[in-house]
Amino acid sequence: MAQVDLTGKVAVITGGTRGIGYALAEAFLKSGASVVINGRSAEKGRAALAELGNPLRTLFVAGDVTRREDVEAAVNGALAKFGRVDILVNNAGGSSGFAPVAEMSIEAWDQAASWILNSAFWATRLALRDMEKRGSGRIINISSVEGKQANKSNCCHYITFKHALNGFTKAVAFEYGAKGITSNAISPGAVETDLMKITGRQAAESQGLTYEQFLGNYAAEASTKRINTVEEVAGLALLLVSDLGIGINGAILPVDGGTAL
Ligand SMILES: NC(=O)c1ccc[n+]([C@@H]2O[C@H](COP(=O)([O-])OP(=O)(O)OC[C@H]3O[C@@H](n4cnc5c(N)ncnc54)[C@H](OP(=O)(O)O)[C@@H]3O)[C@@H](O)[C@H]2O)c1
Repeated sequence: MAQVDLTGKVAVITGGTRGIGYALAEAFLKSGASVVINGRSAEKGRAALAELGNPLRTLFVAGDVTRREDVEAAVNGALAKFGRVDILVNNAGGSSGFAPVAEMSIEAWDQAASWILNSAFWATRLALRDMEKRGSGRIINISSVEGKQANKSNCCHYITFKHALNGFTKAVAFEYGAKGITSNAISPGAVETDLMKITGRQAAESQGLTYEQFLGNYAAEASTKRINTVEEVAGLALLLVSDLGIGINGAILPVDGGTAL
């Protein structure tokens, strides 16, 4: 397969300073794209830009994706600095306040709705307007293995909004496929990132498990008997944004080692 060439393309990645988002930023940048990353912490943003090491083709826009104006600032930042958005990755997403449904707080539910689902809608509606002008674009939503199953306690919010993100992915694919714009979701299994180390630990504790047991359970439910890596997620993302990826639309693609087969 030919090398993926993203020269001249501009990618926006929410939550791109660490973890999966950073791995995608690095992969797209190496393939020739300009990359705009967002995140709440300016310090993480500075560190990511320094590590990426290409000031001309990178931009960090600070913001919290649970706020519409911050999400829009990331897309608008790309338009202002680079003049276009060819690739949008709705990556930032998470939840807190892990509890059974009857004890789940309204705040935790609403926060997860904005973090996972609303943020993707806000970024996508804005990016589509620019993509439509050129009749091409690639949208990737970072969903989760929890978007296809409901076998963990105390995270009904995360499970629900990752399922909903898959529905949104397909709705966008249906409406915009004929306009040269694809919309797909990548659903990783467990990957040991900051998110896993912090909120994964909280989720584990709420289920009466140690962090090691929690991670071990993910490995056990995968047919590969291992968890996944950020590089494995980035590899699939590269295919989706490449010219060869044009035939893939509305797909919910797992990188979960074969879980819930
Ligand atoms: N890790 C896993 O096992 C796993 C499995 C399946 C799906 N996923 C999904 O993959 C995506 C990325 O997760 P990850 O594991 O790579 O997380 P991570 O390592 O914690 O990185 C998250 C990135 O997003 C940023 N971020 C987090 N919340 C944000 C917010 N509200 N607004 C803006 N930026 C925010 C972080 O920077 P700041 O902290 O500075 O904001 C960081 O750059 C999430 O949607 C997650 O649900 C992860």
